[in-house]
Amino acid sequence: MLSKYNIVTLFPKLIDEWSETGIISKAHESSLFELSTTNLRDYGLGDYHQVDDAPYGGGPGMVLMPEPLDNAISANKLDINIFLTPSGDQLNENLITELHTFQSANIICGRYEGFDQRIIDMHADYQISIGQTVVSGGEVPALFLLEALIRKIPGALGNAESLLTESFTDGKLDHPVYTRPEVYKDKEVPSVLLSGNHKKIEEWKKNNLTDI
Ligand SMILES: C[S@@+](CC[C@H](N)C(=O)[O-])C[C@H]1O[C@@H](n2cnc3c(N)ncnc32)[C@H](O)[C@@H]1O
Repeated sequence: MLSKYNIVTLFPKLIDEWSETGIISKAHESSLFELSTTNLRDYGLGDYHQVDDAPYGGGPGMVLMPEPLDNAISANKLDINIFLTPSGDQLNENLITELHTFQSANIICGRYEGFDQRIIDMHADYQISIGQTVVSGGEVPALFLLEALIRKIPGALGNAESLLTESFTDGKLDHPVYTRPEVYKDKEVPSVLLSGNHKKIEEWKKNNLTDI
């Protein structure tokens, strides 16, 4: 299982705070996974710890320079290096399963206009996108990827059964779910779910899965 993660980022606090919340913090306290951060700024160049520079050929924004990233990644050798980039492979359950065949990973967060291509050519084992839209940095995509990975580690979820029925398992989307009250603003819970008839309830659940 992929359970040792090092996040290379300019904003390590974001990762630290996330690791202290909800099921992730419980799994962390139970040592189900190891998490460290590498502050890219510590590998910045010169007095100002520079990590970015203007793009060759012109254009908007700044580009992450190769040397700080090269040094940060080389100082933390793990099984694989995952670069987060909108142009990467789209994240899905098959990719999560494939990543879990490794033990440890650097997850590298971009910023600004992204990475100097040479650092990707030198170090990337995987380039992953979490969706066909762009956010300002790799940290939120990294947290998304981490949660998707960690919830698959045995013991991480309070109820392991959730994993068997949730969306994207067996090419289906999960059925709708309801809780109390039985009627809310004239909207009723499907009566079969209140019937106590387990066979019928299971049938209803199965019939209400949606094909992807
Ligand atoms: C503003 S984006 C760079 C966008 C880049 N110029 C482009 O158009 O592809 C800055 C960083 O955010 C992260 N990022 C943004 N959107 C992402 C996505 N959909 N999936 C993964 N990472 C993303 C990447 O690490 C990226 O290097």
